[in-house]
Amino acid sequence: MQDKIHDEARQGEAFASFANDPNAYKKKFYIESYGCQMNFSDSEIVASILNGAGFGATRNFEDADLVLLNTCSIREKAEQTVRKRLTEFRKTKERNPGLLVGVLGCMAERLKAKLLEEEKLVDLVVGPDAYRTLPALIEEAETGQKAVNVLLSRDETYADIAPVRLDSNGITAFVSIMRGCNNMCSFCVVPFTRGRERSRDAYSIVGECTHLYRKGFKEVTLLGQNVDSYNWHDEKADSTISFAKLLSMVAEIAPDLRVRFSTSHPKDITDEVLHAMATYHNICKYIHLPVQSGSTRILQLMNRTYTREWYMAKVNRIRALLPECGISADIIAGFCTETEEDHQDTLSIMEHSKYDMSYMFFYSERPGTLAARRYADDIPEEIKKRRLQEIVLLQNKLSLESNQRDLGKTFEVLIEGDSKKSVGDWMGRNSQNKVIVFPKEQYPLKKGDYVQVQVTDCTKATLLGKIMA
Ligand code: 5AD
Ligand code: SF4
Repeated sequence: MQDKIHDEARQGEAFASFANDPNAYKKKFYIESYGCQMNFSDSEIVASILNGAGFGATRNFEDADLVLLNTCSIREKAEQTVRKRLTEFRKTKERNPGLLVGVLGCMAERLKAKLLEEEKLVDLVVGPDAYRTLPALIEEAETGQKAVNVLLSRDETYADIAPVRLDSNGITAFVSIMRGCNNMCSFCVVPFTRGRERSRDAYSIVGECTHLYRKGFKEVTLLGQNVDSYNWHDEKADSTISFAKLLSMVAEIAPDLRVRFSTSHPKDITDEVLHAMATYHNICKYIHLPVQSGSTRILQLMNRTYTREWYMAKVNRIRALLPECGISADIIAGFCTETEEDHQDTLSIMEHSKYDMSYMFFYSERPGTLAARRYADDIPEEIKKRRLQEIVLLQNKLSLESNQRDLGKTFEVLIEGDSKKSVGDWMGRNSQNKVIVFPKEQYPLKKGDYVQVQVTDCTKATLLGKIMA
């Protein structure tokens, strides 16, 4: 199943645009993205800025004049992956001393100029709010100087930059609606790497989505670290646009343009948002609602600002207003001081929430975070891993049960393309974000079409179905 937050299959993926003839550009850049969907989306902004500076994209780093890694700091493992990848560019640089290597994104922001000392082959270090200065930084680096810009901004949203859609299926796209995060969850490095929260101009968002729809896209996912706290002040009209209002504005573009969003913080998702979801058929009935832990004591140490009971009531509210809604979560095993009883609370909240799927991690201490400063990372690795394993096994059971509840049901499915295993089968998703694979049969369908599919079989990850004539 595609992970809209951290797609493991896509980590380190390189992309290149063939919409523009690369020969028209004097120089070529190669970019790889790591981490969350926001980073993949940022790489499309970077590509647009580089196109403007005369760089065309290449999928082959051996051909590039500029190699960029758009990095993630969320867990130690994410940083190690990037460091390992950097060593692989060393030989290329020996062969081609003019090659520039740049580190973008969260690791750039976290480590700043220190990264230049630690990784000698790096020429450029550019934080998430400084991409407009890339052309000038590249010029500086071309003279042999190291170039760094890790300034965070209070207002940068790249609202006016049309992202270059790279490696797109032409049907589904991600649209960034806000940047940064003000939540200060104690485990999380994001407030430090992406800065203060700010919302993008609502009209530029609607404009981008309308443009995508005209180009044939059928689904947009509105992206932000905490979309429910979206709040944009329209100075001309002297009014404020909330996330619920934004959702309705995007849903109004066209009834056959699906709207998704990610990520929601349980404390911020309002009834107004749930009502907007109920009102519009094309707002998908799926909420990613990270719980992190099921123990009130641990939630408090995590600074999540809700209790176990409050979260459970939120899930009940979603089920009451949107009975068909899919719910998924992020879960952390082995946070500081977590007892066996706290862990059992996490397992039982999973049972209560009946998550369709979850992204599950063991706690990884990040330097500079509130937790790193305040609490000892005191759960031994074997215990973290054992608890994580128990969480994964339970989620497997819940995912299978969730899919089994869909047997015999018929869903409206948006066709995204051929299934991975067979060109005789289509792959698509239902509103709840579940992947459905079904035989094409004799029907003259194409990707981007909607089709009614009845579920005939399932695994824990995929529904299998049959087109309803
Ligand atoms: N250790 C483990 N998991 C983390 N996450 C964020 N920070 C950490 C950390 N230090 C997880 C959270 C978050 C998801 C994107 O990554 O579950 O929701
Ligand atoms: Fe995304 Fe967080 Fe990783 Fe930054 S640290 S790329 S915001 S997941």
